[in-house]
This record gives sequence, C-alpha cells and structure tokens, in this order.
Amino acid sequence: MTDLSAEYLGLKLRTPVIASSSPLTATPDKIAELADHGIGGVVLKSIFEEQIAGETAMLSRYHDHPDADDYLHAYIGSDYMRGFIELISESKKRTGLPIIASINCAEKGKWIEYARKIADAGADALELNIFFLPSGAGQTSSEIEARYFDIVGTVVKSIGIPVSVKLSMRFTNIIHIAQEIYNRGAKGAVLYNRFFEPDIDIENMEYVPADGLSARSELYKSLRYIAIASAAVPGLDLSASTGVHTGEDAIKAILAGARSVQLCSTIMIHGMKVIGEINGFIENWMQRNSFSRIDDFRGLMNRKVRVDPLLDRVQYMKMFPPEM
Ligand SMILES: Cc1cc2nc3c(=O)[nH]c(=O)nc-3n(C[C@H](O)[C@H](O)[C@H](O)COP(=O)(O)O)c2cc1C
Repeated sequence: MTDLSAEYLGLKLRTPVIASSSPLTATPDKIAELADHGIGGVVLKSIFEEQIAGETAMLSRYHDHPDADDYLHAYIGSDYMRGFIELISESKKRTGLPIIASINCAEKGKWIEYARKIADAGADALELNIFFLPSGAGQTSSEIEARYFDIVGTVVKSIGIPVSVKLSMRFTNIIHIAQEIYNRGAKGAVLYNRFFEPDIDIENMEYVPADGLSARSELYKSLRYIAIASAAVPGLDLSASTGVHTGEDAIKAILAGARSVQLCSTIMIHGMKVIGEINGFIENWMQRNSFSRIDDFRGLMNRKVRVDPLLDRVQYMKMFPPEM
C-alpha cells in the first residue's frame, strides 16, 4: 500500500502537499475547500506586524499590492486579532488539518506577544516571513542577518509551538542562515519566499505590479539549495515554495530533501483540482518506483547522498563550450 503521509515541523500531514500563505488560505470556507481537495495542511494568509500593532502606516505602504484589498478590508481595525484567532480555531474545527499561522515581520516588536495568542488559539505551528528591504549602503549583511536571528530566537522562546522561517533568496550564504536559525530553535525553513516585485510600464513611465504568479522554471531556484541545505543542516525541516506546479515538481523537491511542498500559483492558475492531481501523480510515481512511504525517497538526491558536480556548477562554461 502506498502511504502519502509525511511529517513536517513535527506535524502529521496526510500528504506533503500543503497550501502556502495567500488569499487561498484567508477564510475557513477556502480552507475547507482545500481540505476537500486533499491538501495536507495550510499556511494561513499572513498577518503583518503593523496590522497586529494596529498601525495604519501600512495603508500607504501596501496601497498598490495586488491583494491589498484582502488586508485592508478584512483585517484592519481593533477586531483584527480576534478575527485571525477565529480563523485558526474555525479552520481547525472544520477541517482537522494542521494549521500553520503566518506573520510577516521586519523587526522585533510588541507583535511578538500576539504570537503567543496565535499559539493559544490552536495554531499547530508558526511560519515567520521575515524581510525588510535594504535600500541604503549603511547596513552590512551581518547586521541585517543578526536582526533576523534575533527575531527568530525571541519568537521561539516566546511560544510553545514549532516555528519555521520563510526565507528570501537574497542572502549571501543561505546555509549559514539555515544553520543559525536552527541554532536558535527554528524547526523548519521555507525555501523560498517569492516577493511582490515592481515592473515599469515604459509607455506611461509608471511602476506597475510585475507578474504575481510563478512559473514552473522558478523551482530550480529552490531545488539546488534544498538539496544542499537538507544535507548541511539535517535537523531543519525544509519546505519547498516557489515554482511547485505539478506532481513532478513535488517529487523533485522531496527527492532533494524537502519534507513538504507548498502550492500557491498552481492552484490560482488551475483551480483546486490540481491538488488531487498532484497527490495522484506522487502516488502513481511511488508505485512505479516501489516506494511505499514518502520517507523512502525523501532526500535520496540531497548533496550528502548524491554527489553530483551538476549540483555545484553555476557557470555555463563547460555546458556550452565556446566551439558550440
Ligand atoms: C496573491 C498572493 C498573496 C500572497 N500572500 C502571501 C502572504 O501573505 N504571506 C506569505 O508568506 N506569502 C504570500 N505569498 C507568497 C506565496 O505564499 C508563495 O510563497 C509564492 O507565491 C511562491 O509560491 P508559488 O510558486 O507556489 O506561487 C503570496 C502570493 C500571492 C500570489
């Protein structure tokens, strides 16, 4: 018998396929729909530290964000935390799925007290999406990284549920980051967050939102470092995000060492039915390859198990020699 169940952040998932933080995980109805389609767990739509603090500065900051309406209409106001806590408890009650809450933050602050309330409300884990945009030459990489580590250490000490960190691609040495957050008690990391990016409309000479959804080819960005990080920091549970669109993509990420894969764009493009298709593909592939459990193939292609020069090659020189 083929068993798709997986363990991520110490949580039992019926399948390693989970829904990443997005408007798809912002209401109990949507989460129930995801559950009906076979999702293994959900990461709730993030709350922002500003929202928790009740500040309105974010109104201007996120004014042009494509899903700003979500934030502005649903969450702002004094009821905000209560609404979020209800989302956790109702989603849990209705689906029984592992529920991972998510907070977007850039610095330590009063919001950390609320992380405890989130845990008390029944969230099974907390995903921290930490990022702020350096825009001057004044701060060094190590100062910025120290800020991340400080947030992670403080949150881990403040709450009793597992903490994972959704990382950006913009670190000099992601393995150092993985090791340091692990040292401070993080149970997992998500590789990677995909940012909202600005584009330029050259006719009107205006900034406009770039394409909000990922392409399959973006998985390559995560794949290499899941293979390297899962070998280098084996105690840290890795989840693949960005570019997981199909069952084949999910299997690649798990072979590289991911304990779960997160879906967002593919559900927005193809609808909820893609979840069942991905689960079905994984099951079929496992049968064809005589794997009965996810752990039988997880990490089989990480950098410790499979030493392959392709994993370490970044320049094209050898692949496309000059005589071509
Ligand atoms: C409309 C939209 C809203 C999102 N909101 C959040 C969010 O609140 N918090 C977060 O951590 N990631 C957020 N994300 C990022 C996704 O969770 C995911 O990491 C990203 O889309 C890459 O995965 P994908 O290739 O499966 O789309 C959002 C993505 C989209 C498209």
